[in-house]
Amino acid sequence: MSETLLADRPTEAVTPRPQPPLGLLAEVTHRCPLRCTYCSNPLQLDPKSVELDTDTWKRVFSEAAELGVIHLHMSGGEPTARRDIVELMRHAAEVGLYTNLITSGIGITEEKLDAIIDAGCDHIQLSMQGADAAITEAVGGNRGAFEKKHDFARAVVERGVPLTLNAVIHRMNIHQVPLMIEKAVEFGAKRLEIAHTQYYGWALKNRAQLMPAREDVDRTIEEVETARERLKGTLVIDAVFPDYYARYPKLCNGGWGTRTFSVTPSGKVLPCHAAETITHLDFWNVRDHSLAETWYDGPAFTAYRGTSWMKEPCRSCERKHVDFGGCRCQALALTGDAANTDPVCIKSPLHDSIGAMATTESAVAEPGAATYRGFRAG
Ligand code: SF4
Ligand code: FES
Repeated sequence: MSETLLADRPTEAVTPRPQPPLGLLAEVTHRCPLRCTYCSNPLQLDPKSVELDTDTWKRVFSEAAELGVIHLHMSGGEPTARRDIVELMRHAAEVGLYTNLITSGIGITEEKLDAIIDAGCDHIQLSMQGADAAITEAVGGNRGAFEKKHDFARAVVERGVPLTLNAVIHRMNIHQVPLMIEKAVEFGAKRLEIAHTQYYGWALKNRAQLMPAREDVDRTIEEVETARERLKGTLVIDAVFPDYYARYPKLCNGGWGTRTFSVTPSGKVLPCHAAETITHLDFWNVRDHSLAETWYDGPAFTAYRGTSWMKEPCRSCERKHVDFGGCRCQALALTGDAANTDPVCIKSPLHDSIGAMATTESAVAEPGAATYRGFRAG
């Protein structure tokens, strides 16, 4: 970071009181049968021994509903690895939350699926690592995963629960985007997310192995557009493209401490799923503070909420209320200071070097072996 940016401290001091949050990402466990190389979980995964117990998660869901949360995304890891998943789902539904189970679909029997649905699960989001067995196994490190996912998807659709497939796209599977779209139709999904990898957690560690070439990204944009037109009324396709090749940054999580938040398996309340990488922040825990206290006044939430923390060029930028300076976690990872402009922004002095880095990494023919996610590998 330049001396100029360091010296350029903000002068605004007023941050308006935020609206209540709309969404909660509850990472109820980091245990998972898959070991995806792009996982956005932190490198230091929470072991089972530190996970919140059933009653505490239920209290968290009650507090979330009271606070105004509408959508609960029950995630992990693999949330069904928890023995109390049905009880947690039932409680979330009873307190009025719209529940989305984010799952790998591995290891869930039809009986368990029935119990989860009976408990009030509103929607299921199934991860998709590839469009065939070979790529699915190479990315997720689990033999037989593709067939299991196919069976799980069929079982969800048969039960009339809306199914979304989430395909994280990177260099290892980018050639399969058209086939993934066909598989989503075959699986009976209502929606498909073509989500290019965002580089946090394990994905950041494996960035050199995952970064796609720009021309491949451009091709997927066309492929998605064509398929959207062709499949109108059959499949909705959402797409997130890689920001390293973009001109402006994404509005990350709807703005820091603005719309959504996360709770980790051990109970830390985070403004975004990757916020723990900003190690100077003080993350309150649900064991010590209510969600309302944390949302409105927790120091990690107030740190980058609004615009008063911004430095130049964001501070005087006409887009500062559009993207809030981009992603704090990415700013830290790529510039060393979470308060800097997200360097994918064209106005950042580092913008050109980020695009060049992505181009260079994607051009390496043999980038070496990726590190699979795991409790010891981090
Ligand atoms: Fe967004 Fe900051 Fe870039 Fe303006 S300078 S577009 S506010 S990241
Ligand atoms: Fe943390 Fe973007 S992932 S602010």
